[in-house]
This record gives sequence, structure tokens and C-alpha cells, in this order.
Amino acid sequence: MNPIKHVAIIMDGNGRWGLKYKKSRNLGHRAGLNTIEKVIKNTIKKKIKFLTIYAFSTENWKRPKKEVNFLFNLLEEFLTKKTKDLIKQGIKLKIIGNKKKFSKKLIKILSNSENLTKNNKILQLNLALNYGSKNELINAMNLIIKKKKSINEKNIKKNLYTYDSPDPDLLIRTGDTKRLSNFLLWQLAYSEIFFIKKLWPDFNIKDYNKILLKFFKTKRNFGNI
Ligand code: IPE
Ligand code: IPE
Ligand code: MG
Repeated sequence: MNPIKHVAIIMDGNGRWGLKYKKSRNLGHRAGLNTIEKVIKNTIKKKIKFLTIYAFSTENWKRPKKEVNFLFNLLEEFLTKKTKDLIKQGIKLKIIGNKKKFSKKLIKILSNSENLTKNNKILQLNLALNYGSKNELINAMNLIIKKKKSINEKNIKKNLYTYDSPDPDLLIRTGDTKRLSNFLLWQLAYSEIFFIKKLWPDFNIKDYNKILLKFFKTKRNFGNI
């Protein structure tokens, strides 16, 4: 077992890559899907048990409708075609985020893939969809109040979408931007953060392994010395 339990990723730069090489942001999103598949495979190879990928934020609804529709169609196509593959690879898919805004059809596809993969043990893939950390924390607080429990660290963790995942050991953000964009603000409190210049479709396994190696060379203090 790898001492790294959980890798979180903000895959950024698809749109810019698409415009640069294919004259279309959407084709960049399609290219980004290949990188996701490669990264999943390498995460399994390295025996890391949790991978969380930011695919659509609560703020991404501001984008043109054409792009939003393309993204959700791509997701539907991916899950319809690849759920069998997820099962074969031992991947448990879990959606984190608020599903309420999705079409009935998408909710059904998501629940179906989650159900079919729920007993898999090799890797838990948390896919963040309509995910926002502030929304997640507000939701957790409301759940705690509803259950008449007290607000403490244990109860907050228990009521986050990520209640069944350890906090990420490291976060990778591609796309040459140094910000968190409302991603896992609570869970990343002590994660090592790697900001990578490359756009997501150009990110490769060599880049990924270099980051893992650098992580191992980092002394984590957690406030201690
Ligand atoms: C990240 O790539 C993927 C999603 C937000 C869905 P972007 O689409 O943000 O790509 P850039 O940052 O505009 O290049
Ligand atoms: C973050 O990327 C969201 C996802 C990768 C899904 P964005 O491209 O939306 O982030 P900002 O808006 O540039 O901060
Ligand atoms: Mg972006």
C-alpha cells in the first residue's frame, strides 16, 4: 500500500488547449478525458486508494450554455460507454456535489454507475460535479443542526460529501493558475499543493510521477517541527 492515500486534482486548461490546437474549447474537453483515463490507471498502479477529480464547479454554470451542455453530454457518453471498464478495473465511482440541478436522465446514469461500482475496492474515484466547497460546508452545517448534533471537527467531516474519504495528501492543479476555485477548502487544510504550468490535456504520467516523488521528499509538519 502506498503511504499516499488520496490525490485530488483540479484539471484546468482544457478550454485553452482546445482553442490553441483544435480551434474549439469543447475539443479540449474531449482531449482532457484521455488524460483522466491515463491518470486513473497510474493512480491504481501506484496503489493509491482515493482519487478526487474536479469536473464541474458550482460556478461553472456561468459558462455559455453550449459548453455546459457539451460537458454534460461528454459525461453521459463516458459513463454509458465506460462503466463496464470501471467495474473491470475495480473502481468505485462516487459523485460529490449537488445532483439536484441535473436532468432526470443524468441523475439516473450517475446513480446507475454508482450502484454498479459500489462494491469495488481497488480505487474510489470521487468525481466532483456541481461541486462547491462553500455549498458543501453549508450543507454539512445544516445536516448537523437538523440532527441536533454539536458543531465539531468530527461531525463536520462526517457530514461532508467526502465523509468516506481521508483528506487528500496532495492536490495537483494544472493550467498555470494558482488558486483553489472553491475546491475542498476544508479537506485541503494540510495537503501539499502542486501548481503545474501544463494544460490538462498535455499532463502526462511522467509529470504525475515527478509530483509523487517530490511529495515523498517533502517534510510534513502538521504544525510540529
Ligand atoms: C477545466 O478546464 C475543465 C472544466 C472546468 C470543466 P477549463 O475549461 O477551465 O479550461 P480553461 O481554464 O478555460 O483553459
Ligand atoms: C476549476 O476550474 C473548476 C474545474 C476544474 C472543474 P475553472 O477554470 O472553472 O476555475 P476558475 O474559474 O478559472 O477559477
Ligand atoms: Mg479553467
